[in-house]
This record gives sequence, C-alpha cells and structure tokens, in this order.
Amino acid sequence: MTSRRQFIAAGATGLALGAAARVARADAKGFPYAEFEQRIARKDFRGMTKDVLPTPSMVVDIDLFEKNVRTMAASAKASPILLRPHVKVHKSVDVAKRQVALGAIGVTTATIAESELMSNAGIKGVLWTKQPASMNNLLRAVALSKRDPTFMFVIDDPRVADQVEEAAGAAKVKCRVAVAVYAGLTRQGIANGKPALELAQRIHSSKNMALEGFMAYSGGASHTKGFAARRKKSADDLSGVQETVALAKKAGLPVGIVSGGSTGTYNMDHELGLTELECGSYVFMDSIYRRIGGKSDDTVYTDFENAMSVLVTVDSKHHAGQVTIDYGNKAMIQTTDQVKGMSWLQVDRQGAEYGILRWKDGGGELKVGDRLEIYCSNLDMSTNCYDRYYVAKGDQIVDVWPIMGRSGAAQR
Ligand SMILES: Cc1ncc(COP(=O)(O)O)c(C=O)c1O
Repeated sequence: MTSRRQFIAAGATGLALGAAARVARADAKGFPYAEFEQRIARKDFRGMTKDVLPTPSMVVDIDLFEKNVRTMAASAKASPILLRPHVKVHKSVDVAKRQVALGAIGVTTATIAESELMSNAGIKGVLWTKQPASMNNLLRAVALSKRDPTFMFVIDDPRVADQVEEAAGAAKVKCRVAVAVYAGLTRQGIANGKPALELAQRIHSSKNMALEGFMAYSGGASHTKGFAARRKKSADDLSGVQETVALAKKAGLPVGIVSGGSTGTYNMDHELGLTELECGSYVFMDSIYRRIGGKSDDTVYTDFENAMSVLVTVDSKHHAGQVTIDYGNKAMIQTTDQVKGMSWLQVDRQGAEYGILRWKDGGGELKVGDRLEIYCSNLDMSTNCYDRYYVAKGDQIVDVWPIMGRSGAAQR
C-alpha cells in the first residue's frame, strides 16, 4: 500500500489529479455531457473516462473483477465443490451471467424479487434462501416455480411447508424445496437432528413439493478473524448439519444439495460437508471483509481483490485537516470505508449528501474537484443505494451494468 509520503513524492497524479487538470482533460476531449444517458443507452463509451462520471458512483475495475470470478471458479473446481454464488451483494444480471459463464451452477438469492430478476433474465438454478412466509411471497414463489422448473427455495417451518403444499397443489406445480437448518446463525434454520429430519420427511412425502436437500448458512464463520479460528467456527457451526444430513441419508431421503458457505470460508467448507458454495462478496470485496485475514496473512484477506469502489469528488475545503466529499449517508458512507491508495485518510460522516475525509498531519495535497475512490464497508448495503455500475478498464469506461437497487429491492 502506498504511504502518504510516497504518494506526495509521486506528485499526487492519477486518481487525485488537480481539479484544473481534470477539467482541462475533459474539455479537451469535449465530452458531450448532454448526451451522457443516450451514449450509455447505445453503449457508446467514446471519451467516457472516470473524469466525466457523476459522483458518487460505483465503478467496477473489470480486470480485477474478472480475476476474482476466475479465482473462485478455479478454487471450487479444485476443491471440488459446486458454486451457486449469492447475488445479494451485486444485484446485477450482468455479474451473475459472468459467474455462470465460468461454471456457477446457478445463483443464490435473498429475496423473491432478486429470484424473479435472475430467473427472468434466463439464469437457471436460482436458489432463494428465505422461506415464503407471507402470502405475497408464497404465491410468487409458486408462480416462479411454475415458470421456471429449475427454481428452488427453502423452508424452515412445518406450517410454511403446509402452505406451500396447498398453494402448489392449487397451481398444479411441484415446488423444489430445501430445508433450511440452523448453522450457528439465529436468524433462520430449523434445529438439526429430529426436527430437521421430520421437516425433510414431510416435504419428501408431500404431493406438491420435491425435497432437494439442505441449506445451512454459517454467517458467524464468514467474518471470523484469522484462518484457523474461522475454520474452527465453520466446523463447529456445520457439525449439527452434518449429523442431520447423515440422518436424512440413513432414512432414505434424497439429499441432492447441502448449500452454504461464504467468501470467508470458501476454501474450507468442502471438507465440512457442503456440496455447494453460496459465496457472494468475493466478486468485488469490501473493506470489512479485507480485515478477516487469510491463509497466508492473518491481518489482511488478500485472496480476492477490491474490484469495486465508489468514485467521489472533493466538494469543499476550508478547515485544517479535512475536506468535504459528495459521498454521504444516502450513498451509504461508513466510517469503516477505506480510501483507495490513501490509507492515512479517515472517512467520516457529515450528512445526507456530504462526507468528510480527515487526516492527522499535512494533507494539503487534496483540492476541491479532486476525485478519489472509496472502498465501501458492506457491499449488500451499498449496492442497494445505486442504480448502475460503471465498468472501467483503467480509466476508460467500457460498459454500464444496471443494479437492481433503489428502485427495486425491498419495495418489490
Ligand atoms: C444465505 C447466505 N448465504 C451466503 C452468504 C455469503 O455471502 P458472502 O460471501 O458475501 O459472505 C450470505 C451473506 O450474507 C447469505 O445471507
């Protein structure tokens, strides 16, 4: 990582170009701002560099992103374990299609709306990891099962199983269902052992549901710091799941899948009874994940690259040791965010549309109009606030990928 001293010695070029220089560059190219949206619509990215983008906006480094997707695909193949990546972190059909192109057997989703989005885009093998507890979700899950026979969802409650059975019968469809079992996270999952076995038997013996297997997400393990501690936590969390799977097999139940895992545990869960991984964050990575430590370095997790950042502009500078940026609460600023290449800057909140960058000493190199890139703290939360990824190769924008964000997450 570049130190502040090295950065200043290098002339503060690159991302932190002075405002005047940047404006001159944009003008020289004569970028037609009035045509910005039309150009995106026809995928004409001539002259569209990071300099001309509105801020705050999300920028994906295509080379690093592709490297991450390839790294995970290669690791899964070598383990071996199947990969059904979670899309809640990116909410993008374009990203999902690239994951599938490199061998993913489908995608995992958090909401029925995400499931519909992915399935309607032609992605097969969508696994929705929340049970349809409301009538809205129930009827949509049944309808999606009818439209897309590869769609699956989970159940962790016998009453929901009965409701699905009835709704599926009325719709004349057989729903594909996995039992969600407890794996150390108290948010969902029926107790392992007898309760899980009985639910699996109820589903298997039903008329309108097909038992696919089990889903066991060990969320506590994913961010456990240090490789050895994380492996122990994942093993502890999955031990009850392994017992349930053994019981189910002994009872003659089909156990097609045992799904779970995360970016933090991707290289250990194949030894702990999972048949497929639901990792999500590895595509872009966030600043919190960087701190969990990896196999070779217990302080920084370097298995995957930071491939996505929020591009921001310095808006104002009038006080010692700080500048104001146009990245605020509405854009999901967090004090745990990190400025790319400038680790001495501390990110702080200021208001709905404003954030602050602080430094202890010096820092005079930042000027009004400067652009910086910030690694967000939690991908799920941040991508939910933006409409699109600007995809960059170096400084040049080469594509724009829509995000199912503001306009469609919780409300749909
Ligand atoms: C059900 C489920 N599976 C898997 C994951 C793992 O995602 P990540 O790789 O981003 O930690 C999550 C993340 O919250 C999840 O909710």
